[in-house]
Amino acid sequence: MPELNDATRGRLLYGGDYNPEQWPEEIWHEDLRLMKSAGVTSVTLGVFSWSTLEPKPGEREFGWLDTLMDLMHDNGIGVVLATPTSSPPPWMGRLHPDTLPVTEEGRTEWWGGRQHFSHSSATYRRYAAAITEDLAARYGGHPALTMWHINNEYCTFDYGDESAAAFRRWLREKYGTLDALNEAWGTAFWSQGYDTWDGILPPRRPHYMRNPTQVLDFRRFTSDMLLECYVAERDIVRRHTPHLPVTTNFMPFWTGQDAWKWAEQEDVVSVDIYPDPADGWGAQYNAMIGDMTRSQARGPWMLMEQAAGPVNWRGVNHPKPRGLNRLWSLQSVAHGADAICYFQWRQSRQGAEKFHSGMVSHAGEQGRTFQETKQLGAELTLLSDAVAGSAVPAEVAVVHDWESWWADQQDGRISSEVDYPAVVRAWHRALWEAGHTTDFARPEQELSRYKLVVVPHLYLLTDAAVDNLVTYVRGGGTLVSGFHTGAADEDDRIRAGGMDARLRDLFGIATLQEWWPLDAGVTVQCDGFVGTLWSEELEAGSAETVAHYRSGELDGLPAVLRNGCAWYLSTLPEPGALRDLLARVADRAGARPVLTGLPAGVEAVRRGDLLFLFQHGRDKVTVSVPGRHHDLLSGSTVDGVVELGRYGVAVLRKAA
Ligand code: GAL
Repeated sequence: MPELNDATRGRLLYGGDYNPEQWPEEIWHEDLRLMKSAGVTSVTLGVFSWSTLEPKPGEREFGWLDTLMDLMHDNGIGVVLATPTSSPPPWMGRLHPDTLPVTEEGRTEWWGGRQHFSHSSATYRRYAAAITEDLAARYGGHPALTMWHINNEYCTFDYGDESAAAFRRWLREKYGTLDALNEAWGTAFWSQGYDTWDGILPPRRPHYMRNPTQVLDFRRFTSDMLLECYVAERDIVRRHTPHLPVTTNFMPFWTGQDAWKWAEQEDVVSVDIYPDPADGWGAQYNAMIGDMTRSQARGPWMLMEQAAGPVNWRGVNHPKPRGLNRLWSLQSVAHGADAICYFQWRQSRQGAEKFHSGMVSHAGEQGRTFQETKQLGAELTLLSDAVAGSAVPAEVAVVHDWESWWADQQDGRISSEVDYPAVVRAWHRALWEAGHTTDFARPEQELSRYKLVVVPHLYLLTDAAVDNLVTYVRGGGTLVSGFHTGAADEDDRIRAGGMDARLRDLFGIATLQEWWPLDAGVTVQCDGFVGTLWSEELEAGSAETVAHYRSGELDGLPAVLRNGCAWYLSTLPEPGALRDLLARVADRAGARPVLTGLPAGVEAVRRGDLLFLFQHGRDKVTVSVPGRHHDLLSGSTVDGVVELGRYGVAVLRKAA
């Protein structure tokens, strides 16, 4: 199978989405001059070009793209060619309203924006296949082409009639009989028993709370249907260019797609990362998405999009202070990215994203944004040989699962304060602050290579996942689990006793009486720390109680349990406490931080034989690094001590 390396050819790839159809031709030449001066090696063409390529049904306008492909090739810039299928032209919705998605309230999502297509629409799929086929036939042999980019950020839900029919087909395949479906969905509750497949609907807005398993299956179905759309286009381009890798870009840590499943269908895993420059923990977020994407890719990955400056879809959109874009880009490289790209090359002057930054901002060539773009391009060139293709070692894994996230979000949940991604982020942050590089893992995957595995909060676990966690600990691994884990089976049926019996046994829990969620801002005192968000009324069995609750109704009951190498945290400790606890457990498990004694805000990551250091703050700091090293960025040799300034980066290789 082709891989990222086939497109990068052993180098770090640098570039971005390029939308030349928004500009007159003379700007294209100017763009090429600037691209070359910035060390750009790759552009992604055609992401939103459908109405330009097919202005009327069945017509083709390839001339402009021919010119651009040739121009790119003549200038030594590779092309990641996109299928334009995420934004159908207006004629499609007008002539074929069946291609438009419908919301849960029954409202049609009209053209005039983007991503207004129904994954289940046969008409949409036919047009998408046709334009993909023609693009692949025309450009498959073009020397500029390095990779395919299918669609863009698949994310559209559809509750319409064609989707309803597809949902029924999907359910029939899954359950075989209506009895099995009724049993899995628990339809005896509230008189929901189905007597015919035709009676089943997507979970459209009902009078009161929805059937949670119906919702869960609809999430699984939606992810699968979007994936079907991807696979259909991927297979078309693959037929023409079996030697070229194919990708589609994920939104980071997004709820709609089971990215574990999707990644298996991609040659290259790519993602779009937009940390908020105003988020004091933006660097941790960037690290987390990098770790997650690397784990999905099982190796180097592609940062398909980031912003050179502000985005324009937050309430208040902050620019990036000087140096921050470089810092976060190099941080992504340290976390395994072999491609650093942006949305987009040149900032638009019209359209919905004219206030969204580009590598060339409205300020132009002399603007700070482009000057920083140039500097980064030069530095990536410098690092390229030493970095590209190398692995990022991790001794710790965070277990994360989309299905559990979906089940956790149901209408009738225990606490709407529990925000699954925020809980995962809190655990990743604790490990990140403790200096560990972490992988992400799926609940059913073999875990024995990790010294420490943490499960921040997996409400739903399949039998296979439960067995996997038990096997991991029985085999000598150390497991730390967060609250409300293992409560439900894969049909979202609550397990007897409120927690799977094998897990209770593993954690040494005798009984679980009640879940006691905490209101926003309310905390519970525990021995030596403060718990947030959640607490549980537990009785310890074989476990040792490491910390008790010391306030409120649960005063005196166990908060943190330890049963050999299995730990259970029935609350979410505040950040410093979670960090310290995980650092202690990691140390006992033999997992070592990348470097010890780092000043606050400094991150160390190993990739291949290199040690990356990042100062995420603005002050000058001194970092002790045993031994003599060359800093590949500054070209200097450092002996035992490295100085980093505001947003400073060092990339060190041991001196011979
Ligand atoms: C991404 C998208 C791009 C652009 C960008 C703006 O979600 O793929 O096309 O819209 O956001 O931040």
